[in-house]
Amino acid sequence: MIYEQYISRIMKTYTLCFIFFIGSLGITAGQESSDFLSQNKLITPGTFYYPEHWPESKWNRDFKNMAEMGFEYVHMGEFAWTFLEPSEGNYEFGWLDKAVSLAAKHGLKVMLCTPTATTPAWMGIHYPETYVMNSNYLRGEHGTRQNNSLANEKYRELAAKMIEALAEHYGNNPNVWGWQLDNEPEAKPDYSPSAQKGFRFWLMDKYKTIDRLNEAWGTAFWSIHYSNFYEISIHNTSAVEWWGNNPHALLDFKRYTASVQAGFLNQQATILRKHISPNQFITTNYASLPYNANPRLDDGTDFPCFTAYPNGGSENLGLQGFRLGDPDKLMLFNDYYRPVKNCYGILELQPGQVNWGNPNPLLKPGVVRMWLWHCLGAGSQLVSSYRYRQVLYGVEQYHAGIMENDGVTPSQGGKDYMQFIAEVKEIEKHVDWQAALPADYAQKATAILFSHENMWDNDRQSQRSDWNYLQFVLKYQKILKSMGVPVDLIAEDGDFSKYQMLIVPAYQSVDKGLIEKWKTYAENGGDLVITCRTGIKNRDGHFWEGNWAEPLSELIGADVTAYDMLPEKHRGHIDLQGKNYTWYLWADILDVHNKEEQIGTYTDQFYKGAGAVVSRKLGNGSVTYIGAVNERDMMEKEIMVNLFEDKGLMVKNYPEGVLVYWRKGLWVAVNYSSAIYRFPLDKDATVLLGNTDIKPGEVLVWKSGRDG
Ligand code: GAL
Repeated sequence: MIYEQYISRIMKTYTLCFIFFIGSLGITAGQESSDFLSQNKLITPGTFYYPEHWPESKWNRDFKNMAEMGFEYVHMGEFAWTFLEPSEGNYEFGWLDKAVSLAAKHGLKVMLCTPTATTPAWMGIHYPETYVMNSNYLRGEHGTRQNNSLANEKYRELAAKMIEALAEHYGNNPNVWGWQLDNEPEAKPDYSPSAQKGFRFWLMDKYKTIDRLNEAWGTAFWSIHYSNFYEISIHNTSAVEWWGNNPHALLDFKRYTASVQAGFLNQQATILRKHISPNQFITTNYASLPYNANPRLDDGTDFPCFTAYPNGGSENLGLQGFRLGDPDKLMLFNDYYRPVKNCYGILELQPGQVNWGNPNPLLKPGVVRMWLWHCLGAGSQLVSSYRYRQVLYGVEQYHAGIMENDGVTPSQGGKDYMQFIAEVKEIEKHVDWQAALPADYAQKATAILFSHENMWDNDRQSQRSDWNYLQFVLKYQKILKSMGVPVDLIAEDGDFSKYQMLIVPAYQSVDKGLIEKWKTYAENGGDLVITCRTGIKNRDGHFWEGNWAEPLSELIGADVTAYDMLPEKHRGHIDLQGKNYTWYLWADILDVHNKEEQIGTYTDQFYKGAGAVVSRKLGNGSVTYIGAVNERDMMEKEIMVNLFEDKGLMVKNYPEGVLVYWRKGLWVAVNYSSAIYRFPLDKDATVLLGNTDIKPGEVLVWKSGRDG
């Protein structure tokens, strides 16, 4: 039996690889592949339910209503450790067995969750060392969640036993569809004795010798020098002035923290796989784009999922924005998670007001439906609402659910889900499951190179408080979205050749191999767009003993002679092929080798006449270096539009907040702006849902006659 499962999993892996290979011949943006989730289905809707919060007498009613509302799966078991193992080693699955079979009676698939984010009281009493320790060396206590040290061996051992018991019990239950690991995995910076020890071993493994560590960390500065690994403790920014810590040691602590998190997930997945049927998938629900976890590390999952709360109290766009949500959130998360494994989902989508925003306004009726369509259009293959019932007590009692407090009346979010589910059923009749990306859309596929390491490194030494790496990446993503081109956020080991354009924003740390990969990409016909703050450091985070960004000079055809920045009230000026643009945030000053390639020039400051933008042909493609940041995005947009138009590729000009996606022959547009947007539909388009005058919070779905 075990052998059969093994063979079946191997076959699945080959199938998956084959699909990836086929996918790699085309473009990932808008494509999908998974053998766990149905191929002939756009999206599978579900909801989170906590049976332990409600009297057993209500479960049947709740599952029945869920199924009648159109939900296809229910998510259970998260945070339930104390009910699953009331005392050490004594497992109680009876209550969950009842819930699983009742859900199945109503045709609901069950996604189970490993309960590792909340530990039982007995664990803290018997093993206080299992708690995390913050940067003030205060130990966690029982009574909340995510308060354990992932580096602690006892915690890991108890978690492993719990998961093994769950896997043995439910691994071959046909009603169990798949597994979520933990909850929003994002390890806390941990200063506990276990983490200190773990960090030292991680460093030994990475550097092998203390001399190499001393070199990489630059420990000659301020007498930080170490004689052996046992002298090292985690550098703590709370203990001295924030700026006063070694950036290399802190970067390694970030790397370590993310690797501990990935390792813990991987351990969970490995234990599950020993027992579960190969038909059950394993995923996890990353918190949006987590800061202290890196979803691209080897976490053992079959595909990633994320959580999304688009309306957390910010103003957003226009007068109604605070009821519509932040358009950047789902935009960013979908484009980040889609290429990770070419299959992904959203495990928590805000159903209404939350309890943690400031403030928490009512959502515009229908906005949850728009978010759902946004995720569907972008490629998500499953979506669940957090949560089915609004809980009557506890930390999150103010958090809306799919049902009102009476447990039987759908909330506005619940109604939005029902409408969406019904609409998808209708729309699926028009789907062309074999459709390939329309050629003129596919030709404009663009990737943005994003890395957690660069984010941590930029943030550590931002050089000005209003420099924000993620915002800088978002700036480019927003420009591309306004141009209506497909976008993926990819890692440096990704296949660049799938994309016509590759944007490299503020990629500080590089090595020769990466620069060579960029060069090959351009020579083979790609349009490489590199921005300021790229290539100034090696992988240890040291500057080059040479010119600023020296290894880039040959590729970009310019030397970066210096960088400048202005106080916020000042503006510098740039002439870009006859048009005038301003800057203040950052400006790399370029000495362009071939003046004909200098397309942007500083027109003031003492370095007037120096290059701001250089663009050159390279092989079959081009390399452009944008040295300055235009605060209104216009200069960058002009450059990118020109690059496409040079190839005869026309782009769109959507207003901010209007986002457009293609999926399986369908076009989906959503409007987060506060104004009606009259969508310029082609004459031969067929509207399937909505109106060409897209109101704020509304959706338009259509098929284009030209795509076929
Ligand atoms: C998420 C979390 C959920 C719930 C939710 C409330 O971040 O994963 O468990 O707490 O927030 O908005």
